[in-house]
Amino acid sequence: MRFTLLLIFTLMQLMAISQDIISIIPQPVSLQPQEGYLNAKKISGIVIESGHFQAESDYLTNALKENFNLILKPKMADPNVKPILLRQLATGDSAAYNLYINYEQIIIESAGKVGIFYGIQSLLQIMASSNNLQLLQLEVNDSPRFSWRGMHLDCSRHFFTVDEVKKYIDYLALYKMNVFHWHLTDDQGWRIEIKEYPKLTEVAAWRSGSMVGAYSKNQFDEIRYGGYYTQDQIREVVAYAAQRHITIVPEIEMPGHSLAALAAYPNLACKDSTFEVSRKWGVFDDVFCAGNEEVFEFLQDVLDEVITLFPSEYIHIGGDECPKTRWKTCDKCQQRIADEQLRDEHHLQSYFIQRMEQYLNAKGRKIIGWDEILEGGLAPNAAVMSWRGTKGGIAAAQAGHFAVMTPGKPCYFDHYQSENKNTEPHAIGGLNTLADVYNYEPIPESLNSEQAKFILGAQGNVWTEYILNFAQVEYMALPRMAALSEVLWTPASLKSYPDFVDHLKTNCKILDKLNTHYAKHFLNEKR
Ligand code: ACM
Ligand code: ZN
Repeated sequence: MRFTLLLIFTLMQLMAISQDIISIIPQPVSLQPQEGYLNAKKISGIVIESGHFQAESDYLTNALKENFNLILKPKMADPNVKPILLRQLATGDSAAYNLYINYEQIIIESAGKVGIFYGIQSLLQIMASSNNLQLLQLEVNDSPRFSWRGMHLDCSRHFFTVDEVKKYIDYLALYKMNVFHWHLTDDQGWRIEIKEYPKLTEVAAWRSGSMVGAYSKNQFDEIRYGGYYTQDQIREVVAYAAQRHITIVPEIEMPGHSLAALAAYPNLACKDSTFEVSRKWGVFDDVFCAGNEEVFEFLQDVLDEVITLFPSEYIHIGGDECPKTRWKTCDKCQQRIADEQLRDEHHLQSYFIQRMEQYLNAKGRKIIGWDEILEGGLAPNAAVMSWRGTKGGIAAAQAGHFAVMTPGKPCYFDHYQSENKNTEPHAIGGLNTLADVYNYEPIPESLNSEQAKFILGAQGNVWTEYILNFAQVEYMALPRMAALSEVLWTPASLKSYPDFVDHLKTNCKILDKLNTHYAKHFLNEKR
């Protein structure tokens, strides 16, 4: 009898060990499991060697309490009190970290706060995938492959609350993404309070209805729709992101996608008319007039307020999908072309962007724009976001400009993720499966190693014409964001889609706990 019990007990232990899939996403550069376990329930204090890591220590304390009900006490002389040590390294990449779990303590070490934060994320993921907080002893040595690990969210076509935006930022933090591209203005709504121009929030933030269903049906509801972020709310979100070592790059669209602003301030358009905040999705002919000085004054005033709110080095000025229809027949635009001896309207767009770049450069900031900003000549210091395939990013890198790769395939997460479109919520079109995203390589083959250094990284874009609420944002963004995180963090030679899916099957427990409405197609994938 005793022998049988012993056998059962031993078998159970073996099973527990065989369940030790360590599911850190993105996969670390090096992960060495060792013999033996640490019971994380015995962890009862965090030790920081200096006040330098106080914010990270507070974040960890809070996360351990919220996720695992572990309440930390100060470390005392009690030998049963096992600490987590956050240790400063004298040198090294600030985003690199080492994590050691041994029989008496956990150590996270880095030269920078950001590396400590990433070590904390790995530890939390290990704990979440552990068997009852029995942590396998191990050593992780880790650092990111790319410096721009971005996710975008369109808050114009549909509006998401501050709490929802914070939740989105939490997902970025979970997967060690570090740039949140916040799409704040477009034809269908202006979402940022600008004190100097109150009509942007009184008028431009609201539309009288929205398109319903497929674009081809051309159907609309009549429900007033809108919202905006006050400057206090924006400061709150920027601080929340900063605590998670995420930079927010705000996007203020110009010269196109500007109907909402024109509805509030029609004097900024080429033709003397009235405009409505658009109920329809798409691209519209009415854009900021490039010949009118008032437009530049307006945008400079707007950017003055934007840069006081957002400390990011880059400000996104849009630049995409600007029809030249109005400019071709506008006296002021044509006068500008003549005065500045510009070749055509594409060069007028380039003039527009270059003026805005000069303005922002003088304030110590840089611009990034969609790849149309290459047309008519790239502004001298501009970075390019390559969305119409990879050509724009390649051209930028070849010309010695920084680029972020967001080609529609596979980086547009508003596309379908399953071939079985009938069972999916209506989407804009296209197909970017989890495997498509996972297998993406951001460095185009045509670049040599010097040019490749200009590829900062890549980004997933979540446009929300057909994404009606935050649950649907989660569904479209997750787990594709997790796949992209591994593209951007893990050395290409270590990537394995089957391993990633295995890891995700355990790692998604974290999303379950957060009640995340993520897409579950991967659960049916077999190795
Ligand atoms: C874009 O998708 N228009 C950048
Ligand atoms: Zn004009």
